[in-house]
This record gives sequence, C-alpha cells and structure tokens, in this order.
Amino acid sequence: MYTFTLIPLLSLLPATLSAPIFGLPPSTSDDSATGKPTPVSLDTVNSTLVRPALFSRVAYCESATITSWTCGKPCEALSHITFLQSGGDEGAIPLYYIAHDADDQSLVVAHAGTDPVKFLSLLNDAEFELVALNSSRFPEAAGTDIKVHDGFQQTFERTADGLLAGVMKGLASTGVKKVVVTGHSLGAALATMTGAMIKDAVDPSVNVAVTGYGLPRGGNEAWANFLDSKLGLTFVTNQHDPIPIVPPKALGFQHSSGEIHSVDGTQSNFVACPGQDNENCSTGNSLIDFNIVNHLGPYFQDISFGTPECSTGLFG
Ligand SMILES: *[C@@H]1O[C@H](CO)[C@@H](O)[C@H](O)[C@H]1NC(C)=O
Ligand SMILES: *[C@@H]1O[C@H](CO)[C@@H](O)[C@H](O)[C@H]1NC(C)=O
Ligand SMILES: *[C@@H]1O[C@H](CO)[C@@H](O)[C@H](O)[C@H]1NC(C)=O
Repeated sequence: MYTFTLIPLLSLLPATLSAPIFGLPPSTSDDSATGKPTPVSLDTVNSTLVRPALFSRVAYCESATITSWTCGKPCEALSHITFLQSGGDEGAIPLYYIAHDADDQSLVVAHAGTDPVKFLSLLNDAEFELVALNSSRFPEAAGTDIKVHDGFQQTFERTADGLLAGVMKGLASTGVKKVVVTGHSLGAALATMTGAMIKDAVDPSVNVAVTGYGLPRGGNEAWANFLDSKLGLTFVTNQHDPIPIVPPKALGFQHSSGEIHSVDGTQSNFVACPGQDNENCSTGNSLIDFNIVNHLGPYFQDISFGTPECSTGLFG
C-alpha cells in the first residue's frame, strides 16, 4: 500500500540533486520514437496549455481557500469560477476539486500532486508493481494486458466514485459540454485515470480534454496505447525534470503520445514530440544529470507548482 504525503515544504528543495540514486542505467530501449519534434507556437501555448496549468496550480492550495476561491495569486489568476466539490484529505489522498469555468464554458477537474523529492525516490523504488487496470471500472481492460502503477491506481480509486458523481452532477447543473481534467506530478498521473473514467461515463457529445504537467510514466505500453486511443492526452514536460522519465522504461513503463516539451524554459521554445517516449524530448534526458526544480517550474510565464505559490490570507 502506497501513501503519498503532501508536504508543504517545496521551497526548501535543493537546486539540484545529481546523485545517481537509481542503480538503473539510463533508458537505452530502442522502441522509443525518434520523430523530429516540431515547434509549438506561442499562440498555441497561450491558448491551450496555460489555462489548465492555472487550475492545476490552484489544486496545491489549502482546501478551504479553494472552496471560497481565496487562495491568493493562483485563484486571482482565474475569474468567473464557481467551486463545486472537492475530495481527498490533503494527506495520504491528494486533494482534487471540481469547478465551473464560465469563461471557457467547461467543467474543470484538477488533482494536486505531492512532494517531488519523496515522489522521485518512490518512483525509483523497484518494489512497486505494474498491476492490471481495474476491469470493473474499465470494462474494455478485461482480457487485455493493460497494466498500471499500483500506487497510482490505489490512490485514484480512493476518490474515483465521489469524483465521478460530482462530475455527472456538475455537467447536469451547468449544461456545459466540455470537461477539462488536469494536474501536476502525481496529480497528472491521477488525471489520466480520471480522464479515462469520465470519458467512459459521459455522453459522447461531451468533450473530455486531459492536460498534465510533469507527468511520470503511469503504466505499460498497452496502457499508453489505451490512453492514446481513448483520450489523446496532452502532457507538458519541462527541460531536465526527472519525474517524466520514471518509472524507467527498463521496468516496462511507457508514456503515451502527446508530449509537449519545454526545451529551455522560454515560452518561445516549446516543441511537440511525435510518438510515445520520444528520445528527442524528455525521454532523452538522463537520470544522472537532472534538475528537480524543473519539475516545479516555471513552465510558462510565471506559472510554477507547489504550495509556496498559494498566498493564503495575504489577498483573501
Ligand atoms: C532524435 O534522436 C535520435 C536518437 O537520439 C538522433 O539520432 C536524432 O538525430 C534526433 N533527431 C532530431 C531531429 O533531433
Ligand atoms: C502569450 O502570453 C504572454 C504573457 O501573457 C504574452 O506576453 C504573449 O504576447 C502571448 N502571446 C501570444 C501569441 O498570445
Ligand atoms: C474497481 O472499480 C470498482 C468500481 O467499478 C470499485 O468499486 C472497486 O473498489 C475497484 N477495485 C479496486 C481494487 O480498487
């Protein structure tokens, strides 16, 4: 059983951790895609990637300040939002919330992540297992080889039923036809499962868009293919963040397609990476020379993730 504890001390991180703490060689698997990355325009970055990031940033704030939308800078960056529901306990079960975004005419589901240093060492703990995707929740998984990280699935399952009920209720009460599912870090891994669950439950006329930031690998190649066919996931990786390259491919994990990579941290240098685990994007990074601060950001403009971004009480 895994627990992911949310520690509000992200600002105390060292600038880099460069020790080769994994005992595993960098990925040398040759089934990685090597298609040439293509530039993503500033306009596309602004119009598609920034807004979900703003919602993911809010998810790190204290639950009570999300309910009242008074979490400081993260909440102030988003207007015309109606909070609908939250779940999780800000401890072993990371928080999620559901809100109505009137400007975008969408329902937003955002998952918080967890302490990145602990998370990194957990994801490199070779004792975790790939387990079958719950075929009671995902009937198409029955009789297939779809496997996911057991810790992610257990964490997902703890809030899945209440979250889905909240989404169905929110769709009915607001009448919107779009669900935006987002999260950073562990929150991004949870968002992929949440997005797949919602997609199965809603009317086909409802658009379900999942955008993750600093996403770790969450399952095997069959899971990556499942996400590709069901969701068309988008996930943003920042420079030399180590989290997107764990758990390693050598242990059977694989990313889906949909990576958008920030090459040098400037808003004008994002690339779209064709295929799964493209070696010319974060998969080409090394677990020996990485920068955990890149996991937190900034990803765009001044958007970083973690509780220090929340200014509880200062603005509210
Ligand atoms: C992509 O990566 C491969 C393998 O690392 C390399 O040979 C190739 O030159 C790269 N292509 C581009 C366009 O960067
Ligand atoms: C993207 O947003 C940044 C910051 O708000 C702004 O400076 C830039 O002009 C925008 N670019 C486009 C193409 O909209
Ligand atoms: C599998 O999904 C069902 C809902 O379809 C849920 O009730 C059950 O707890 C899940 N199983 C596990 C092991 O999480």
